Amino acid sequence: MRVGMLTGGGDCPGLNAVIRAAVRKGIFHYGDEFVGFLEGWRGVLENKTMPLTIESVSGILHLGGTILRTSRTNVRKKPGGLEQCISVIQQNKLDALITIGGDDTQGVANALIEKGVKCVGVPKTIDNDLNGTDACFGFDTAVSIATEAVDRLHSTAEAHSRVIVCEVMGRDAGWIAVYSGVAGGADAILVPEVPIDLDAVIAQIKDRRARGKNFSIIVVAEGAKMPASDAKATHGSKLDEFGHERLAGIGQYVADEIEKRTGFETRSVNLGHTQRGGTPTAYDRMLATRYGAGAIDLVHQNRFGRLVVLRGTEITDIALADAISKNRTVDPKLLDLAKSLQPDLKA
Ligand code: F6P
Repeated sequence: MRVGMLTGGGDCPGLNAVIRAAVRKGIFHYGDEFVGFLEGWRGVLENKTMPLTIESVSGILHLGGTILRTSRTNVRKKPGGLEQCISVIQQNKLDALITIGGDDTQGVANALIEKGVKCVGVPKTIDNDLNGTDACFGFDTAVSIATEAVDRLHSTAEAHSRVIVCEVMGRDAGWIAVYSGVAGGADAILVPEVPIDLDAVIAQIKDRRARGKNFSIIVVAEGAKMPASDAKATHGSKLDEFGHERLAGIGQYVADEIEKRTGFETRSVNLGHTQRGGTPTAYDRMLATRYGAGAIDLVHQNRFGRLVVLRGTEITDIALADAISKNRTVDPKLLDLAKSLQPDLKA
């Protein structure tokens, strides 16, 4: 078969491992040929391609980023965009297209599926919030980076008797905040799923000082809402093609409020894209490899319109349309776990 492949949306550690696995299994096991579209859906619209061969995917397993590059191009915003994609897919004589991306990328794939294009999806986002899968590759790497940062912030916060607020990614769900906050022993974890209660955070900080600890670490997800306005903190007013704002600033907001209300010196750090860059963990390489191999298997089983997913420890698949129907928010049990590690000051 001739199979196209693209990576769309924000980059994510493990994208290259998915590409490599699909190409190697496709060529060695099924005798496939591959066409890589460059820069996500933009590459399909503009017919920008590169060959994907055993040679071109050699040496990429451990690399961050994506050899296909990526973009947040929304085909549905371009007049005649879906038709243009279909025409380019036909020009390249493709039998199938593997779309590696999050809900925006898979939303475009779904629109093409409805027009008869044979797509198979692979779930990708460091935010880990795609519905229908227990894990997205890239999340483990992001959590490792954020946890190391929280560890490092402990020693500098203690040396200076400061409160440090660490802002991590997580637009609609606080998975990275909860995992890195619990693994790094943060004193409070603030997520989009729960309204921020600054009084409660300040009570924790003061109680800790009263117990003889001169510093505190707070982890906050970028998508947590500001209590005053119930809005997400944004950087500028630019929207991407899917209508997403650039989130940033909730960490600084929380830090300013804490300093104002407690008098304790408080700093904020935004980890930003550091969390998405660089080499994937072994766990993410393994998961990404299983997804890549699973995706090419689905193509050869003629199971189009499906998304390869992890359920428990097994790779299986779901309807791609179900994955994009809603976000997967943090399991309330994990939020309870994080809370249970701090004193119940209202009791
Ligand atoms: O795609 C997930 C994500 O990592 C979000 O957490 C974040 O808001 C967004 O990407 C930022 O991506 P970019 O700066 O590339 O638009």
